[in-house]
Amino acid sequence: MTADPRVVIHPDKQALADAAAARFVTAIIDAQSRHPEAQVALTGGSMGSAIIASVVRTPGGSAVDWSRVRVWWGDERYLPAGDPERNDTQNDEAGLSALGLDPDKVHRVAGPDTSESAEASAQAYEATIRQHGQKVWDVVLFGVGPDGHVASLFPHHPAQRQNDAIAVAVHDSPKPPPDRVSLTFECFERSHEVWFLVAGRDKAASVAAALSPRADRWDVPAAGPRGSEATLWLLDADAASAIG
Ligand code: 6PG
Repeated sequence: MTADPRVVIHPDKQALADAAAARFVTAIIDAQSRHPEAQVALTGGSMGSAIIASVVRTPGGSAVDWSRVRVWWGDERYLPAGDPERNDTQNDEAGLSALGLDPDKVHRVAGPDTSESAEASAQAYEATIRQHGQKVWDVVLFGVGPDGHVASLFPHHPAQRQNDAIAVAVHDSPKPPPDRVSLTFECFERSHEVWFLVAGRDKAASVAAALSPRADRWDVPAAGPRGSEATLWLLDADAASAIG
Protein backbone atom coordinates (compact mmCIF):
# COMPACT_ATOMS: atom_id res chain seq x y z
CA MET A 1 0.00 0.00 0.00
CA THR A 2 1.19 3.51 -0.76
CA ALA A 3 -0.10 6.88 0.40
CA ASP A 4 -1.78 9.23 -2.07
CA PRO A 5 -0.01 12.56 -2.58
CA ARG A 6 -0.82 15.37 -0.17
CA VAL A 7 0.05 18.96 -1.08
CA VAL A 8 1.24 21.61 1.39
CA ILE A 9 1.79 25.12 0.00
CA HIS A 10 4.11 27.71 1.57
CA PRO A 11 4.34 31.37 0.58
CA ASP A 12 7.92 31.30 -0.71
CA LYS A 13 11.06 29.19 -0.98
CA GLN A 14 12.53 30.19 2.38
CA ALA A 15 9.27 29.49 4.22
CA LEU A 16 9.13 26.13 2.45
CA ALA A 17 12.70 25.25 3.45
CA ASP A 18 12.13 26.30 7.08
CA ALA A 19 8.84 24.40 7.42
CA ALA A 20 10.28 21.32 5.72
CA ALA A 21 13.30 21.43 8.06
CA ALA A 22 11.07 21.56 11.15
CA ARG A 23 9.00 18.69 9.74
CA PHE A 24 12.19 16.72 8.93
CA VAL A 25 13.57 17.08 12.46
CA THR A 26 10.23 15.98 13.92
CA ALA A 27 10.15 12.96 11.60
CA ILE A 28 13.68 11.96 12.66
CA ILE A 29 12.87 12.29 16.37
CA ASP A 30 9.74 10.22 15.80
CA ALA A 31 11.69 7.54 13.89
CA GLN A 32 14.33 7.39 16.63
CA SER A 33 11.62 6.73 19.19
CA ARG A 34 10.52 3.68 17.17
CA HIS A 35 13.87 2.17 16.19
CA PRO A 36 17.56 2.64 17.01
CA GLU A 37 18.44 4.64 13.90
CA ALA A 38 16.54 7.00 11.64
CA GLN A 39 17.31 6.43 7.97
CA VAL A 40 17.00 9.32 5.55
CA ALA A 41 17.87 9.91 1.92
CA LEU A 42 18.89 13.44 0.94
CA THR A 43 18.69 15.25 -2.36
CA GLY A 44 20.88 17.60 -4.34
CA GLY A 45 19.81 20.74 -6.13
CA SER A 46 19.01 24.05 -4.55
CA MET A 47 16.18 22.68 -2.38
CA GLY A 48 18.44 19.91 -1.08
CA SER A 49 20.86 22.53 0.22
CA ALA A 50 18.09 24.89 1.39
CA ILE A 51 16.53 22.30 3.71
CA ILE A 52 19.91 21.39 5.23
CA ALA A 53 20.69 25.06 5.87
CA SER A 54 17.32 25.39 7.60
CA VAL A 55 17.82 22.17 9.61
CA VAL A 56 21.04 23.66 11.03
CA ARG A 57 19.06 26.65 12.33
CA THR A 58 15.80 24.98 13.34
CA PRO A 59 15.29 25.03 17.14
CA GLY A 60 14.19 21.37 17.35
CA GLY A 61 17.47 20.24 15.80
CA SER A 62 19.10 20.02 19.22
CA ALA A 63 16.57 17.32 20.21
CA VAL A 64 17.89 14.97 17.51
CA ASP A 65 20.58 12.43 18.36
CA TRP A 66 22.45 12.96 15.08
CA SER A 67 24.77 10.03 15.84
CA ARG A 68 21.72 7.77 15.36
CA VAL A 69 20.84 9.05 11.89
CA ARG A 70 21.95 7.06 8.85
CA VAL A 71 22.25 9.23 5.74
CA TRP A 72 22.00 8.26 2.09
CA TRP A 73 21.53 10.16 -1.15
CA GLY A 74 18.82 9.44 -3.70
CA ASP A 75 21.33 10.22 -6.41
CA GLU A 76 24.84 11.53 -6.89
CA ARG A 77 26.72 13.16 -9.68
CA TYR A 78 29.61 10.86 -10.68
CA LEU A 79 32.40 13.27 -9.79
CA PRO A 80 35.41 12.97 -7.43
CA ALA A 81 34.94 13.29 -3.67
CA GLY A 82 34.78 16.93 -2.65
CA ASP A 83 33.90 18.19 -6.12
CA PRO A 84 31.81 21.34 -5.67
CA GLU A 85 29.21 19.97 -8.11
CA ARG A 86 28.56 16.82 -6.09
CA ASN A 87 25.28 16.69 -4.18
CA ASP A 88 27.00 15.59 -0.96
CA THR A 89 29.57 18.41 -1.18
CA GLN A 90 26.78 20.96 -1.63
CA ASN A 91 24.87 19.45 1.32
CA ASP A 92 28.06 19.53 3.41
CA GLU A 93 28.61 23.17 2.56
CA ALA A 94 25.00 23.92 3.52
CA GLY A 95 25.78 22.60 7.00
CA LEU A 96 25.39 18.82 6.91
CA SER A 97 28.95 18.24 8.10
CA ALA A 98 28.31 20.44 11.16
CA LEU A 99 25.30 18.49 12.45
CA GLY A 100 27.29 15.91 14.44
CA LEU A 101 26.55 12.89 12.24
CA ASP A 102 28.62 9.73 12.64
CA PRO A 103 30.82 9.72 9.47
CA ASP A 104 30.47 5.91 9.32
CA LYS A 105 26.71 6.36 8.89
CA VAL A 106 26.96 8.89 6.08
CA HIS A 107 26.89 6.77 2.94
CA ARG A 108 28.41 8.63 0.04
CA VAL A 109 28.37 7.40 -3.54
CA ALA A 110 31.90 6.66 -4.80
CA GLY A 111 33.16 8.90 -7.60
CA PRO A 112 35.75 8.30 -10.33
CA ASP A 113 38.56 8.89 -7.82
CA THR A 114 37.66 5.71 -5.92
CA SER A 115 35.70 3.55 -8.39
CA GLU A 116 36.33 2.25 -11.89
CA SER A 117 33.03 3.31 -13.39
CA ALA A 118 29.59 4.62 -12.52
CA GLU A 119 28.40 1.00 -12.80
CA ALA A 120 30.94 -0.15 -10.19
CA SER A 121 29.97 2.75 -7.96
CA ALA A 122 26.26 1.89 -8.25
CA GLN A 123 26.98 -1.76 -7.40
CA ALA A 124 29.02 -0.78 -4.35
CA TYR A 125 26.31 1.63 -3.20
CA GLU A 126 23.67 -1.06 -3.64
CA ALA A 127 25.77 -3.51 -1.60
CA THR A 128 26.03 -0.95 1.22
CA ILE A 129 22.28 -0.36 1.18
CA ARG A 130 21.68 -4.11 1.39
CA GLN A 131 24.08 -4.28 4.33
CA HIS A 132 22.83 -1.28 6.34
CA GLY A 133 19.62 0.01 4.84
CA GLN A 134 16.54 -1.04 6.68
CA LYS A 135 13.77 -2.55 4.63
CA VAL A 136 11.90 0.67 5.09
CA TRP A 137 13.49 4.12 5.03
CA ASP A 138 11.98 6.80 7.23
CA VAL A 139 12.12 9.85 4.96
CA VAL A 140 13.30 10.23 1.38
CA LEU A 141 13.70 13.80 0.08
CA PHE A 142 13.42 14.75 -3.57
CA GLY A 143 13.88 17.92 -5.56
CA VAL A 144 12.06 17.97 -8.88
CA GLY A 145 13.52 19.29 -12.12
CA PRO A 146 11.59 21.50 -14.56
CA ASP A 147 11.35 18.39 -16.78
CA GLY A 148 9.80 16.38 -13.93
CA HIS A 149 12.90 14.32 -13.07
CA VAL A 150 13.59 13.07 -9.55
CA ALA A 151 16.94 11.86 -8.26
CA SER A 152 18.70 11.05 -11.57
CA LEU A 153 15.67 9.38 -13.13
CA PHE A 154 14.90 11.49 -16.21
CA PRO A 155 11.89 11.39 -18.56
CA HIS A 156 12.21 8.65 -21.20
CA HIS A 157 15.69 7.70 -20.00
CA PRO A 158 16.44 3.94 -20.01
CA ALA A 159 17.90 4.08 -16.49
CA GLN A 160 14.30 4.46 -15.27
CA ARG A 161 13.56 0.92 -16.39
CA GLN A 162 16.40 -0.93 -14.59
CA ASN A 163 14.18 -1.91 -11.75
CA ASP A 164 15.89 -5.18 -11.00
CA ALA A 165 18.53 -3.06 -9.23
CA ILE A 166 18.51 -0.77 -6.21
CA ALA A 167 21.13 1.62 -7.60
CA VAL A 168 21.99 2.22 -11.26
CA ALA A 169 24.53 4.09 -13.35
CA VAL A 170 23.04 6.88 -15.44
CA HIS A 171 24.81 8.11 -18.56
CA ASP A 172 23.87 10.90 -20.98
CA SER A 173 21.95 12.75 -18.30
CA PRO A 174 20.21 15.76 -19.85
CA LYS A 175 21.23 17.78 -16.78
CA PRO A 176 25.01 18.04 -16.31
CA PRO A 177 27.10 16.24 -15.42
CA PRO A 178 26.27 13.42 -17.84
CA ASP A 179 27.35 10.56 -15.57
CA ARG A 180 25.48 9.88 -12.36
CA VAL A 181 24.39 7.16 -9.94
CA SER A 182 20.73 6.97 -8.95
CA LEU A 183 18.55 4.87 -6.73
CA THR A 184 15.65 3.23 -8.58
CA PHE A 185 11.89 3.33 -8.20
CA GLU A 186 12.20 -0.15 -6.70
CA CYS A 187 14.43 1.25 -3.99
CA PHE A 188 12.23 4.27 -3.30
CA GLU A 189 9.33 1.90 -2.67
CA ARG A 190 11.03 1.06 0.63
CA SER A 191 10.15 4.46 2.09
CA HIS A 192 7.77 5.26 4.91
CA GLU A 193 7.60 8.87 3.79
CA VAL A 194 8.49 10.49 0.49
CA TRP A 195 8.71 14.27 0.36
CA PHE A 196 9.05 16.42 -2.74
CA LEU A 197 10.50 19.88 -2.07
CA VAL A 198 9.76 22.17 -4.98
CA ALA A 199 10.02 25.94 -5.44
CA GLY A 200 9.77 28.18 -8.46
CA ARG A 201 7.45 28.92 -11.35
CA ASP A 202 9.64 26.92 -13.77
CA LYS A 203 8.52 23.78 -11.88
CA ALA A 204 4.78 24.55 -11.96
CA ALA A 205 3.95 22.53 -15.08
CA SER A 206 5.89 19.43 -13.99
CA VAL A 207 4.37 19.58 -10.49
CA ALA A 208 0.87 19.72 -11.97
CA ALA A 209 1.71 16.91 -14.39
CA ALA A 210 3.11 14.69 -11.64
CA LEU A 211 0.01 15.21 -9.50
CA SER A 212 -2.37 14.43 -12.34
CA PRO A 213 -4.21 11.12 -11.80
CA ARG A 214 -3.21 10.19 -15.37
CA ALA A 215 0.51 10.79 -14.79
CA ASP A 216 2.90 8.16 -16.14
CA ARG A 217 6.32 8.06 -14.48
CA TRP A 218 8.00 7.32 -17.81
CA ASP A 219 6.94 10.83 -18.89
CA VAL A 220 7.06 12.46 -15.45
CA PRO A 221 9.36 10.52 -13.11
CA ALA A 222 8.22 12.59 -10.12
CA ALA A 223 4.87 10.78 -10.39
CA GLY A 224 6.62 7.53 -9.43
CA PRO A 225 7.87 7.50 -5.84
CA ARG A 226 5.31 7.13 -3.07
CA GLY A 227 5.73 6.44 0.62
CA SER A 228 3.86 3.73 2.47
CA GLU A 229 2.73 6.27 5.09
CA ALA A 230 3.01 9.66 3.40
CA THR A 231 3.69 11.18 0.00
CA LEU A 232 4.09 14.90 0.63
CA TRP A 233 4.41 17.62 -1.96
CA LEU A 234 5.91 20.57 -0.06
CA LEU A 235 5.66 23.50 -2.46
CA ASP A 236 6.04 27.23 -2.63
CA ALA A 237 3.19 29.21 -4.18
CA ASP A 238 4.96 29.53 -7.55
CA ALA A 239 5.54 25.78 -7.89
CA ALA A 240 1.90 25.16 -6.93
CA SER A 241 0.50 27.72 -9.37
CA ALA A 242 -0.55 25.26 -12.12
CA ILE A 243 -2.24 22.65 -9.92
CA GLY A 244 -5.84 22.31 -11.13
C1 6PG B 1 20.78 16.50 -9.14
C2 6PG B 1 19.63 16.66 -8.19
C3 6PG B 1 18.33 16.92 -8.94
C4 6PG B 1 17.63 18.07 -8.27
C5 6PG B 1 16.50 18.64 -9.13
C6 6PG B 1 15.86 19.85 -8.51
O1 6PG B 1 21.56 15.61 -8.93
O2 6PG B 1 20.89 17.28 -10.08
O3 6PG B 1 19.51 15.58 -7.33
O4 6PG B 1 17.51 15.81 -9.05
O5 6PG B 1 17.13 17.69 -7.03
O6 6PG B 1 17.02 18.96 -10.38
O7 6PG B 1 16.83 20.86 -8.32
P1 6PG B 1 16.46 22.24 -7.63
O8 6PG B 1 16.05 21.98 -6.23
O9 6PG B 1 17.73 23.03 -7.74
O10 6PG B 1 15.37 22.84 -8.43
